[in-house]
Amino acid sequence: MFYPEEIVEEVRTKTDIVDIVSGYVKLQKKGSSYFGLCPFHNEKSPSFSVSPGKQMYYCFGCGAGGNAITFLMEYENYTFPEALKVLADKAGVELPKEEVSKEARAQADLRASLLEINKLAANYFYYQLKHPQGRQGYQYLQNRKLSDDTIRRFGLGFANKTGDDLYRYLREKGYKDGILKETGLVTIEERGTHDKFWNRVMFPIMDVNNRVIGFGGRVMGDGTPKYLNSPETRLFDKSRNLYGLNYAKSTREKHMLVCEGYMDVIAMHQAGFTNAVASLGTAFTLQHASLLKRYTDQVILTYDSDKAGVKAALRAIPILKEAGVSARVLNMQPYKDPDEFIKNLGAEAFRQRIENARNSFLFEIDVLKQDFDLQDPEQKTQFYNGAARKLLEFTEALERDNYIQAVSREYFINYEDLKRLVNSLGSRLGTGGQAARQQTPSYRDRKKEKEDGPRKSQRLLLTWLIEEPGLFDKIEGIITPDDFKEELYHQVAVMVFEGHAKGQVNPAGILNHFINDEEQYKTVASLFHARLKESLTNEERSKAFSETVYKVKKNSLDEASRAAADIGQLQEIIKAQSALKSLHISID
Ligand code: CTP
Ligand code: MN
Repeated sequence: MFYPEEIVEEVRTKTDIVDIVSGYVKLQKKGSSYFGLCPFHNEKSPSFSVSPGKQMYYCFGCGAGGNAITFLMEYENYTFPEALKVLADKAGVELPKEEVSKEARAQADLRASLLEINKLAANYFYYQLKHPQGRQGYQYLQNRKLSDDTIRRFGLGFANKTGDDLYRYLREKGYKDGILKETGLVTIEERGTHDKFWNRVMFPIMDVNNRVIGFGGRVMGDGTPKYLNSPETRLFDKSRNLYGLNYAKSTREKHMLVCEGYMDVIAMHQAGFTNAVASLGTAFTLQHASLLKRYTDQVILTYDSDKAGVKAALRAIPILKEAGVSARVLNMQPYKDPDEFIKNLGAEAFRQRIENARNSFLFEIDVLKQDFDLQDPEQKTQFYNGAARKLLEFTEALERDNYIQAVSREYFINYEDLKRLVNSLGSRLGTGGQAARQQTPSYRDRKKEKEDGPRKSQRLLLTWLIEEPGLFDKIEGIITPDDFKEELYHQVAVMVFEGHAKGQVNPAGILNHFINDEEQYKTVASLFHARLKESLTNEERSKAFSETVYKVKKNSLDEASRAAADIGQLQEIIKAQSALKSLHISID
């Protein structure tokens, strides 16, 4: 963190989250909280809540949560200092320039300069394209049927043949070799200095906020490599950015189109499909999926129709599913990619293909089927078994049955027979089909597994203590932060206990400590938003609370006894263990 904690705190206490969020989301008061439509995922009924008391927001739909600072970070794609600056300005807090560590300031300045240089370079390339020296590039793009409007909208450009003119241009603008090196736009070696891109048409890559973070350059013909891309830099992380999302994010369509390349995105946008994005030749990642999930929960994969494209689709489907995005797959045959399809058959035909895009599960079965010769009885049986095994992936009986119906209909397999096959396979491999999964359990399942036992009680206890500070008295002499053995919960417990001792627990402040780790951040945010059952009687509440305290302490003592260094220590622990058995805490 760049700013001293007191400053961050000052900004935070002078900021009202309701104020900030309502600048972006229409909020309505309900009880002690405000509700609205979540800006981080697509929804029709409001599950996004803002709590003035906690100074936090939380979405019960997608799990997004945080404080005013992170809201701006998420929504505006600001860095922490950028978000803090906006809030400080609003709140009339002056951020001390000198107190910022030199290194930190240098980092922020560096990032800003890199963005500036990228922007200059993009303008430079665009200028070349539109002038005589760029004629070849301009013609190339015209041959590829791109209009002037499209070229301008995507900021396409041309890198000259000269070999170092961009470098010289940027030097003229006052940038030194050191920073130019970091842009990835030039290579500076003893042998000489030259531009990374030359004699190529240029595609600037923008982040969701229209800032140029990198470039791709295409040869105008058959040379290799076909595309040359900026290296990963401070600004450019391929696994976190989607080409075209800066435009696609404002689509009114319910779904997004995901394709492979620059030209595909551009061709689709030009044809009116402004909801197209690309992962740019890199494998589709969970970060990509989570990024998309902010804007949609339905994706149509429009990958190339070749083997590599099919493989990419098969990879992307479970990743999307894991992020809570459903996928369908568009049939591109007989063309290779969206660009070629649209050029040959036009937008209307493409729209129809979108409508007919294949359910991702049935697509997987289609691909599976290709491995078998269905004329051969043995292979046919194998295919049926394979399909049945895949059907077991659905743990929900009703959903599974819907798919059994669909598969039986699509592949002309008798429904009853298929159902019997699925069930018998299921009971052979374990109940409910769970054990039949061949893949490793999904991220969600793993999280659920970990949630069991000690972890869960620690989480619950923290939630109790946060919700009802009065309970601290009840656990005095029994529980300390060290009883929270789960590392993350331990960190939170230390701060919650500290806050309590000072008279006030500060959820939004605690959350700031986890800003650099998305996973941890989410876990901690949800901690402050868990709801305790309100309908319990006092007696039930006492029992539930005692049980939670008991479990946390028992786990802690058990661990201590395993780690005990000598017999004396062990005796102490055993004494505490037996005392714990008679624990009963009553709350009213
Ligand atoms: N790609 C890359 N480097 C390469 C080849 C491809 O980075 N040498 C990336 C590019 O982002 C490209 C995408 O992978 O857009 C898809 O590659 P490909 O299907 O080969 O190219 P097309 O998108 O069809 O490009 P074009 O239509 O210009 O041939
Ligand atoms: Mn292509």
